[in-house]
Amino acid sequence: MTPLLFEGVRPYGEGSPVDVLVRDGVIAQIGADVEREGAEVVRGGGGVLLPGFVDLHTHLREPGREDTETIATGSAAAALGGYTAVFAMANTDPVADNAVVVEHVWRRGREVGLVDVHPVGAVTVGLRGERLAELGTMANSQAGVRVFSDDGHCVHDPLLMRRALEYSTSLDVVIAQHAEEPRLTVGAQAHEGARAARLGLQGWPAAAEESIVARDCLLAEHAGARLHVCHVSTAGTVDVLRWAKERGTRVSAEVTPHHLLLTDERLETYDPVNKVNPPLRAETDVAALREALASGVVDCVATDHAPHAVQDKDCEWSAARPGMLGLQTALSVVVETMVRTGLLDWRGVARVLSERPAEIAGLPDQGRPIAVGEPANLVLVDPDATWTVRGRELASVAGNTPFEGLELPGVVTATVLRGRVTAERGRIRA
Ligand code: DOR
Ligand code: ZN
Repeated sequence: MTPLLFEGVRPYGEGSPVDVLVRDGVIAQIGADVEREGAEVVRGGGGVLLPGFVDLHTHLREPGREDTETIATGSAAAALGGYTAVFAMANTDPVADNAVVVEHVWRRGREVGLVDVHPVGAVTVGLRGERLAELGTMANSQAGVRVFSDDGHCVHDPLLMRRALEYSTSLDVVIAQHAEEPRLTVGAQAHEGARAARLGLQGWPAAAEESIVARDCLLAEHAGARLHVCHVSTAGTVDVLRWAKERGTRVSAEVTPHHLLLTDERLETYDPVNKVNPPLRAETDVAALREALASGVVDCVATDHAPHAVQDKDCEWSAARPGMLGLQTALSVVVETMVRTGLLDWRGVARVLSERPAEIAGLPDQGRPIAVGEPANLVLVDPDATWTVRGRELASVAGNTPFEGLELPGVVTATVLRGRVTAERGRIRA
């Protein structure tokens, strides 16, 4: 493999520019006069070098909805967004609730080779919430599943959730919960509050999320299990997480880019591109989520990248499917909401987009320090450049981005997976 030379980059955005040489997929030298003989050069321009991003929450839609995304197109979007590993959610068709499907997703991800695709296994058969899927078989399959989730659905039966958590301890895996008490969200269309009431949209109460998170923290604590909370969206959930972490509960949590930037003000247009589950919340929630991400109460950012077909989005609000694209805009939204506001420095960005998600999922070769001898899973970012989001220019099959037309800061210059450039200046390198 040709050696790779990053010329003039600033690891974690710190200090003056250095050169970083990658050989055989590993960081070989960092400094002023590294060996350049025969190396492919990536000009850094003093940009920020970070560990490659890890997304714990991606919907790749294959198998079943290849009209909206495939493992190939989703992998391309991920590489362009700076990701070197993604976790593909189980709500495909057929559902990833058995070894055959998870191995298929895993193998297809390897064939495409742009990003490590780790299938998430379903917690319950068919995501129906009735009986546990064979977690052990999926964990022991070639795919080596380490994260299980019924995302899209909440594992709402407390007995099933308790069993899943108990069982997870012997497999050393994590259960990721889509926290939504279904009895409280029947018919829900938007964040419950004055705005939804005025617009005639049925409310999705904060308590539907918070009550499940509180319950699950207690169940996890009693089981000695690890719980991960998907897409935290309310200030109350932040309070519950803080309380649970102070007690020593083994709980981690993610926030999406869209919940860091957008509010239910977006409901005013009734444009379903803004429909998502959990819904866009109030300004006070957004402020609490940013604070929680900065302080570590919320561990990381996960995209909940959710491609949808035109006919499922370009329709009236109540008929539209929830979800929005996220892989190619995540970094920029984090820069806009967390870096430009002074809440996170670039070390912090590495923590929330790479290190913590890699730790939560137990990936040994991702989210590693930028140091000699470490695997070269890296992303180079131009922190000063801006770009304008255009849904049809994104690599996904679907185009449902809520950030259409927004000018955002932070551009991915290059993404490197085990020493190989997967994306450079907006282009996929096959
Ligand atoms: O908005 C969402 N879309 N939330 C989910 O939980 C599922 C996802 C999807 O699969 O489209
Ligand atoms: Zn979800």
